[in-house]
This record gives sequence, structure tokens and C-alpha cells, in this order.
Amino acid sequence: MTTVATRPICTPTQLEVLNDLEPVVDELIAAHEEKRQLWFSSDFLPCSENTDDADFIRDLRKRAKQIPDQARVALALNLMTEEGLPHFHRLLAVAFGNDTFWSKWNFLWTAEEDRHGNVMRDYCRESRLFDFNALERQQFEYIRNGFTPAWGGDPYKTFAYTSAQERATQISHESTGKLIGETEPVISGILRRIAGEEARHFVFYMTVFKEILKRDTNRALQAASEVLPAIDMPGVSMTNFADYAEVLMRSGVYSADDYKLIVEQLISNWKVDAMTGLNDMGEKAQEKIMSIPKRLEKISHYIERRMTCKSFNFDVVFGRKLAF
Ligand SMILES: [Fe+2]
Ligand SMILES: [Fe+2]
Repeated sequence: MTTVATRPICTPTQLEVLNDLEPVVDELIAAHEEKRQLWFSSDFLPCSENTDDADFIRDLRKRAKQIPDQARVALALNLMTEEGLPHFHRLLAVAFGNDTFWSKWNFLWTAEEDRHGNVMRDYCRESRLFDFNALERQQFEYIRNGFTPAWGGDPYKTFAYTSAQERATQISHESTGKLIGETEPVISGILRRIAGEEARHFVFYMTVFKEILKRDTNRALQAASEVLPAIDMPGVSMTNFADYAEVLMRSGVYSADDYKLIVEQLISNWKVDAMTGLNDMGEKAQEKIMSIPKRLEKISHYIERRMTCKSFNFDVVFGRKLAF
């Protein structure tokens, strides 16, 4: 097979920083793999030629009928987001090149993420949770629409984004699992397992960005200050995304309050508030980052004050009315 090499699009300084980071990141990757317990969709859902799984599937579908529609909406969004992996593999390959040291991480990360979409899709199909054709059509549109965020191509911004986004995804899976609880323990267990992996991705990206901050503080702060005020979640290019996001917010799965906690956690881990000796650009970026949690709190209060009764419906959830 012939490989067409692409090199990362970044400034000479960024390239120097990325090169300098390689041994540190190599250790991080090794530690990440050591802690990881490899699991697959087939560990959760039987698929052996010789097993009669009729009872398992019948019971699963019976329990799945009890899953509330708001949790189905969250599952649909999370499933489509996970299956939007082609967008993200490309974004990482564009930012870091596909034949560099960094592609080692991109390939590993992609292989891990791929299982998230697989297991959710297998579960949702087996359990007959959705109008599956509607889901497939929406998924097709989402991939076809592309995803070209403003941070694309910039490695510092990519790491700032992925730090926040992995944690957001973790929260979203975790709280969807809690919403379902013991109603359907198979999917709750699957979501816990995925969330655990998102947590480890979060630690990886947050640590890499911390190392970048040590090496190129002002420019890294500048990058984070452009990305963190409002991150576009992966599904943003999806039809209906605003309705999905609102249902998740109203169901307590993921909201501006969660995002505020994420930014606070990043600020604290990166010790943004304690940074001194910055240049003009760095100081402005530091100030901007430090102001984000307050601004998010205001947004959250504003949304709460304006929230009125509202109903939604989604083709994937059989067009049923969801009232809040
Ligand atoms: Fe994932
Ligand atoms: Fe992840």
C-alpha cells in the first residue's frame, strides 16, 4: 500500500514544540495503554454463531421499552456524535500530519473511539430503541455536511478543544447512563465503560496542553483563549442540533453549567491564574480565559430565567412529543 504523506500545518515554533514534546507524549501513550482494559461491543452483546440469544434479546427489548424518550434523544445524539469519527480523525491528521510521531496517537485514539460508536449502534439496533432508518439518514447528513471548525489545522487550538470536548463527552455519556439507571443495566454499563475511556482521553489531552503551556506559554494561552469561550460540540453541523442540545440541557444530561465546570477544571489544572511573566498577548489571553466561567454563569442564569414550557419531537424517536 502506498501512503500519501501529509505534514502538519503549523508555525515553525509550533513544530519545534511538537517535536520537543515527543518523548513526553510517548510516555503518556504508554501509560494510557497500560491502564486501558480493551473491550469490544461483543463483550456486551452476544454475537456468537453457537449461542441462542433469543431470550437475551427478548428481555433486552422488553426492558428497553421503559427507557424514557429524553434518554433516547441523548443516546441518539451521543451515538451520532461518536459515529462522526471520520470528521475528527481528519481534523487530527490535518493538525498533526499522518506520517509523523503524532499519527501514532491519532491511530490509537481513533481505534478506541471507533468502539464507542460500534457498541452504541449495536445496542440501539438490537434494542429497537429508534426509528433506525431516520437515524441512519440523519447520520448520513451529518457526515456529508462536514465539520470544519475555526480551530481546525492549528495544533494548539486542537489540543485546547479536545481537552474540553473529551470531558464534555464523558459527562454526556455518564449522565445519560444515570438517567436510564437500572431500567436497562446493559446500556448503563456500556455508557459507564465509554465514559471511563473519555475520561482517560481527557487526561491525555489536558496533560499534553499543559506541556505545551510550559514550552510556549503566551501563544498557547492565546490559542486556549480563542477556543474555550464557546466550543462547538461535534454534532453542531447536524440538522436539528439545537433541539437535541436543548433536550439534553432540559434533561440534565449536559448544560452550560457543566461546561463552566470543565473550563474551571482546565484553568485549575493548567494553573492559568498563577501564570506570571507573560507578554502583552499572554496577559490579555489569561484575562480572557479567567473571565469565561463568570460569563458562562451569566448565560446559564439567562437561559434559566427565560426557560418556558416547550415541546420537541424527533424523527428518530418515532416523532413522539416530548414536553418539558
Ligand atoms: Fe467517544
Ligand atoms: Fe474520547
